[in-house]
Amino acid sequence: MNALAPPLALLAELTHRCPLQCPYCSNPLALERASNELSTAEWKRAIDEAAAMGVLQIHFSGGEPTARRDLEELVAYARAAGLYSNLITSGVLLDKNRLKALCDAGLDHVQLSFQDSDAAGGNRIGGYAGGHEKKLAVAKLVRQAGLPLTLNFVVHRQNLHNLPALFDLAVDLDAHRVEIAHVQYYGWALKNRAALMPTREQIEAAVKTVEEARQRLKGILVIDAVVPDYYAKRPKSCMGGWGRQFLNISPSGKVLPCHAAETITGLNFDSVRQRGLADIWQNSEAFNRYRGTDWMPEPCRSCDRREIDWGGCRCQAFAITGKAAVADPACGLSSAHADLVGIAEIESAAQTDAFVYRRVGGANAGPLKEPVPQP
Ligand code: SF4
Ligand code: FES
Repeated sequence: MNALAPPLALLAELTHRCPLQCPYCSNPLALERASNELSTAEWKRAIDEAAAMGVLQIHFSGGEPTARRDLEELVAYARAAGLYSNLITSGVLLDKNRLKALCDAGLDHVQLSFQDSDAAGGNRIGGYAGGHEKKLAVAKLVRQAGLPLTLNFVVHRQNLHNLPALFDLAVDLDAHRVEIAHVQYYGWALKNRAALMPTREQIEAAVKTVEEARQRLKGILVIDAVVPDYYAKRPKSCMGGWGRQFLNISPSGKVLPCHAAETITGLNFDSVRQRGLADIWQNSEAFNRYRGTDWMPEPCRSCDRREIDWGGCRCQAFAITGKAAVADPACGLSSAHADLVGIAEIESAAQTDAFVYRRVGGANAGPLKEPVPQP
């Protein structure tokens, strides 16, 4: 086997706590308690180990990473270790003072999520009253602080028609980059698939909107967008291939090949509490299980795209077929492709817009969660 290259980036999921209640939440169904989160010292050790391995970037994420009071300390530590740091945030807990502290600590970049282009839609989808207005204010503060800004839009049937307005918003907010991320249907999002699945017509319109915006906004806004799996002919190279470019550390220290890897049953994940990060990356059973091409059955085994898309997404393969070691059903060559397309067609025609919200800790948990009326 060739020498294994180090991962490019570490996604540091500091906490699963989050004030929003998004119906497509990508955190695992079993959330980590705050009492089980890695301590500041444990995160610092993980940052040291990541830097020693050759990791270049750290993405502070969650849940909502600003819920951790030691975020500034960890950002400063990552900076001192030579890592480029990105904050992935909903923004609703940030204010001018906190942003200044993060800037002073050496934060390099902010990625701010929006749930829709307007307040009514954004606050309903995120399940957080006043959230959209807060995000607008935070985006301005980020730019005033001189930090580069990426806006992240998770899109689905209930907001895809607002894609043009989302691009206008990004330009108005002086963002450098926009990421259009289609909902991925595993974990909590599976509960809301019928309320979220876009129609084929919506996807076709969205592809045109993205192409037109890319031309019109060249040099102003970078747009990252991919066709969602359910309507694609070939899968995306999820995570750049399992165990090839990224690693994730969960709030309690579990090291995962992707943020959704815990949706695959039968995999055991090592913890930075018990084992060194480099050892886990190179030798752990979970990382090696679907790394490279040895695990592949047909049609991937003899496919000329096997080292391009690495068989697509293991989590989606598991969610649809119950097996992770098969071609992603997004691939037209997969025997489960027709099942996937059938699901998409049935679910996108569903007559429901009601969400099952992701309420951390139960229906009435936490003072931060203000229920937003359904239309
Ligand atoms: Fe990718 Fe496998 Fe499909 Fe080939 S058969 S395109 S490797 S998922
Ligand atoms: Fe886990 Fe694609 S989301 S491999």
